Amino acid sequence: MNEEQRLQSSQVKASPSEKKPEKDYSQYFQSVYTPPSLKDAKKRGKEEVSYFDNFKIDPRFENLGAGRKFYIRTYGCQMNEHDTEVMAGIFMELGYDITDSVNDADVILLNTCAIRENAENKVFGELGHLKPLKLEKPDLLIGVCGCMSQEESVVNKILKTYDQVDMIFGTHNIHRLPEILNEAYMSKEMVVDVWSKEGDVIENLPKVRKGQIKAWVNIMYGCDKFCTYCIVPYTRGKERSRRPEDIIQEVRHLAAQGYKEVTLLGQNVNAYGKDFDDITYRLGDLMDDLRSIDLPRIRFTTSHPRDFDDHLIEVLAKGGNLVDHIHLPVQSGSTSMLKIMARKYSREHYIELVRKIREAIPNVSLTTDIIVGFPNETDEQFEETLSLYKEIGFEMAFTYIYSPREGTPAAKMVDNVPMEVKKERLQRLNALVNEYAAEAMKAYDGKIVEVLVEGESKKNPDVLSGYTAKNKLVNFVGPKSIIGKLAKVKITTTKTWSLNGELLEVVSGQEVGV
Ligand code: SAH
Ligand code: SF4
Ligand code: F3S
Repeated sequence: MNEEQRLQSSQVKASPSEKKPEKDYSQYFQSVYTPPSLKDAKKRGKEEVSYFDNFKIDPRFENLGAGRKFYIRTYGCQMNEHDTEVMAGIFMELGYDITDSVNDADVILLNTCAIRENAENKVFGELGHLKPLKLEKPDLLIGVCGCMSQEESVVNKILKTYDQVDMIFGTHNIHRLPEILNEAYMSKEMVVDVWSKEGDVIENLPKVRKGQIKAWVNIMYGCDKFCTYCIVPYTRGKERSRRPEDIIQEVRHLAAQGYKEVTLLGQNVNAYGKDFDDITYRLGDLMDDLRSIDLPRIRFTTSHPRDFDDHLIEVLAKGGNLVDHIHLPVQSGSTSMLKIMARKYSREHYIELVRKIREAIPNVSLTTDIIVGFPNETDEQFEETLSLYKEIGFEMAFTYIYSPREGTPAAKMVDNVPMEVKKERLQRLNALVNEYAAEAMKAYDGKIVEVLVEGESKKNPDVLSGYTAKNKLVNFVGPKSIIGKLAKVKITTTKTWSLNGELLEVVSGQEVGV
């Protein structure tokens, strides 16, 4: 954010309790080049968050997309997937058509992820593949957005080496897509529109959702945890919560449209509401309010163990449409390692939290994220991760080899663990993860489960597939007419990552289409 914008935004700054201010985004219409700075991103709390709810397309841009098609490729987490839905919504309002082929597109956006080096390499590889297309079709616009655009080094690298790119814009600037596109059409220069700021909360952005059965709903943005290995607090800005009434209204609207499942999104949803200074309202309160909405399933992701409070456990234990599956990333089983990661909880605290959750929700399914090969991780510390995995009995885990991210504290640590050792640890951990996943699945043999039927199985169009409340994939034969409904299925075969079964009956719900 440059000084002028800072002043403009301070004029409309509001505490969350005030009525949301009127704001015209066209005042931002100018060529902006504010390179993202990791140093600025760390100055947390110096800027307040502003709330806006009057996004509208400037009449000047209403026909920008006439006769043109857009294509968005999404990398990374659900947050990015959902941002893509918002950008698709903006494109549609600008009159563009959607296409699923890069060759057919007039605008190509890569919505990028910066979490690990290989995520970034994929994007640079894709930019290389797109170069011949750009040479063939000089009018084609290529844009890079998402988390990589918030990194100083990436922006500089693209400016220097990837002249096929026409636009770079950050995660805080999605609402400026119309202005950015317009500028890109008018200018021969690369349009760079990235703010190194905390980010605002912008309501009423248009969305084109990917499906009609499951939907994502942001409840908060950003992350203030600054785990030492992680780039997200820099790329996504300060923790800031959406107002409860806006979230509840969105979920109600989705229920009315026939959606069957909503996943509440945030990098650290347990910090929801911590930033409100006018009300005491946290994730437990939100879940309690959402329980009364007539929508079969409500999930949330991702939980940070540190902010998981007793009230939330109490509310989740009421069940109903609140699912009994919690994704609770632990990262490591070693207290000393957790300390260096700045996770701010110990192995014992995590175990105690799980004990409390299980006491309240005996059948809860727990899954997690784990990083192996953090700088200087010893064999003993890694063994502690394996032993914690067994002690908790996780049903699934996303496992990663530590990847240094420039600008994070961990990237400066000297690392004595050879890559071979890291790989070997990952293999050992994955073997355990598979063993426990298969074990958890075996318990379903002969049982009847409720499946939200999502569509044809990817492998066999004659088979339907869907997920249980605990997020287990179930395949079974049934009529296509039950897609979008909840069905009771009897499990006949269990595998490590899926279950096969026989359809017994359709539970409820009107058809929502495919
Ligand atoms: N906010 C979530 C995590 C989001 S990132 C949480 O804290 O639980 C998803 C996962 O990516 C993390 O849980 C972590 O396991 C992994 N991850 C993040 N940074 C990483 C890095 N530098 N190297 C390897 N894995 C990383
Ligand atoms: Fe990254 Fe930690 Fe924030 Fe999760 S809580 S996004 S791992 S900094
Ligand atoms: Fe990747 Fe950004 Fe999500 S770094 S994991 S897309 S928040």
